[in-house]
Amino acid sequence: MEQFHIPVLLQSACTYLNIRPGKRYIDATAGGGGHTREILVRGGHVLALDQDREAISEITACLVPPHPLGEKGPDLVLVHSNFIHLREVAEGHQWRPVSGILFDLGVSGRQLTAPGRGFSFQLPGPLDMRMDQELPHQAGELINSLPLSNLALILKKYGEIPGSFALAKKIVAHRPLITTADLAKITGKFSRRVFQAFRIAVNDELNAMSLALPQAFDLLEPGGRMVVISFHSLEDRIVKNLFRTWAAAGLCLILTPRPLTPDESEINSNPRSTSAKLRALQHN
Ligand SMILES: C[S@@+](CC[C@H](N)C(=O)[O-])C[C@H]1O[C@@H](n2cnc3c(N)ncnc32)[C@H](O)[C@@H]1O
Repeated sequence: MEQFHIPVLLQSACTYLNIRPGKRYIDATAGGGGHTREILVRGGHVLALDQDREAISEITACLVPPHPLGEKGPDLVLVHSNFIHLREVAEGHQWRPVSGILFDLGVSGRQLTAPGRGFSFQLPGPLDMRMDQELPHQAGELINSLPLSNLALILKKYGEIPGSFALAKKIVAHRPLITTADLAKITGKFSRRVFQAFRIAVNDELNAMSLALPQAFDLLEPGGRMVVISFHSLEDRIVKNLFRTWAAAGLCLILTPRPLTPDESEINSNPRSTSAKLRALQHN
């Protein structure tokens, strides 16, 4: 079977999670199940969430019995949910307190390369960009209907693009935009950031993580670990600031004073890992 996603910083994430047999963990961003699988292999029990139904189906096919991890099957609970509902999901499954929680943010390799999902500025597709296909608004709807000032704000806030107003004006002048190629053509050298900006807006990503991380922290047992892998500075800033706030209040110990990044060999074998930053903490 084609690999859904190559897990990033896999061994480091599991080492920081301090996986112990029989203990409960949460993988808040199950994706292709790479981290979930490793936690199971190390003997942990996993509650795994993803807001993408395709991801949940893929993991079910790979990890739910019959599977290579033993006859009885791993102690794995899979839930299709946005992690914004983390507390509710964990409590609904009596999965509290937990020994460790992982967030591996952003999109999976499969989402990025799947025709039809519209995440990549390099591949042709519709302007969709929804991680959860049940979300009401696709990127194209925002791009083609929002007023100029709102578009400029999205580009500035979520893409940190210099000259975002001029770029938004250009987009408006070319509306309606139908495909990823239409958007990439107009936005040129800023395409990567423009796609990041609309993806963040469509999925309300920064708000979701700002609301989910405190819920995750509350679910940890004393000594429990939280590991967050982020892929751009907007995400990393939120993680860093929350971790520092909790540490300053004496609630946790930061295990990574500087974020951990992939080494050269990981970057060479998985270029998508290039911008990854891992931060970890231990609840007091
Ligand atoms: C980078 S991938 C995770 C890959 C996974 N760790 C692995 O090794 O296969 C990120 C996943 O998180 C999911 N995701 C992103 N934001 C989410 C949210 N707010 N709630 C639930 N899932 C989310 C995406 O749908 C995607 O499948």
